[in-house]
Amino acid sequence: MTTRITIKRPDDWHLHIRDHDMMRACLPYTARVFGRAICMPNLIPPVRTMADGVAYRERILAALPKGSKFKPLITCYLTDDTDPDDVERGHREGVFTAVKMYPANATTNSAAGVTDYAKIERVLARMEKIGMRFLIHCEEVRPDVDVFDREARFIEDRLIPMTRKFPGLRIVHEHLSSKFGVDYVRSAAPQVGASITPYHLELNRTDWLGHGNRPYMYVAPVIKREADRLALRDAATSGEACFFLGTDSAPHPIARKLAQVGIPGIFNAPCAMETYAKVFEEEGKLDKLEAFASLNGPKHYGLHPNADTITLEKRSWTVPVAMKVEGLDELAMIYKGGETIAWQVVEC
Ligand code: NCD
Ligand code: ZN
Repeated sequence: MTTRITIKRPDDWHLHIRDHDMMRACLPYTARVFGRAICMPNLIPPVRTMADGVAYRERILAALPKGSKFKPLITCYLTDDTDPDDVERGHREGVFTAVKMYPANATTNSAAGVTDYAKIERVLARMEKIGMRFLIHCEEVRPDVDVFDREARFIEDRLIPMTRKFPGLRIVHEHLSSKFGVDYVRSAAPQVGASITPYHLELNRTDWLGHGNRPYMYVAPVIKREADRLALRDAATSGEACFFLGTDSAPHPIARKLAQVGIPGIFNAPCAMETYAKVFEEEGKLDKLEAFASLNGPKHYGLHPNADTITLEKRSWTVPVAMKVEGLDELAMIYKGGETIAWQVVEC
């Protein structure tokens, strides 16, 4: 039985580290383990221009623990009015790694997202030309589409036409959540790759709603059926290059999770890598963990893997229930808080 595993240092290809007090609280958890992370731009106000991107990167670097080598990869929040020249300049000057698209009102802080798909085509054409990655929150949020079908409907109505119109555009289907999505990504690789979260690998909707309503399991895209979870586990642990790690760690103050209208997002950075290791062990696929966590993501982004390594060991520990956010006088609940996990990152 494997009890210790060393892999190239992983990267997080989908992360929310927020801003200011919340960022100072949550960033150290990611920076300890991961070499790089795609930092999501859904702040208030969003990271919309190259100037916003430069300023956000500065704030992240200033919030890092002393001596940290963590590299934030900044993304540009796409709106109907995004200027292709600004995106290209941001990419050429090393500020923007990618562009992120939220359909308007699909998730947390997405009100400024895309409403008119015809208007963004100039930006997509430019990204295709300069080889810039396009990251998509793949959910169709029209009122007539059932919340559990949003991913499938987006793929059929929006994503497939986009890949045909821009065949040279490399895309990331963010936080893949359904069997339909898994089958689609396999068929569309290598043009399309997908990040997969720890919680979509561990939970089904009965865990979320079947034994009391557990508001901290409310995320976008929503957690789906057991068959979806099993398809995602098969995909993540397959070693196939189109599937890679993206935690979607997304801290919120407790009050916003428990409000009358609760907000989607789970803060999982304190135990994300350990959770992936647990899932891969359960599937008998620990030998594929490095591909998923450290190799496939850089490959899809056209980057080199990290040179150094981390080591995980089979050693039980208990995940803290919540993270204190100094300055906000708030707590953010932690995924699996109070539970014991068998794996621990022991060298990083
Ligand atoms: C994310 C957040 O809180 O910013 N929430 C979530 O449920 N995943 C946004 C997102 O990625 O959808
Ligand atoms: Zn996210």
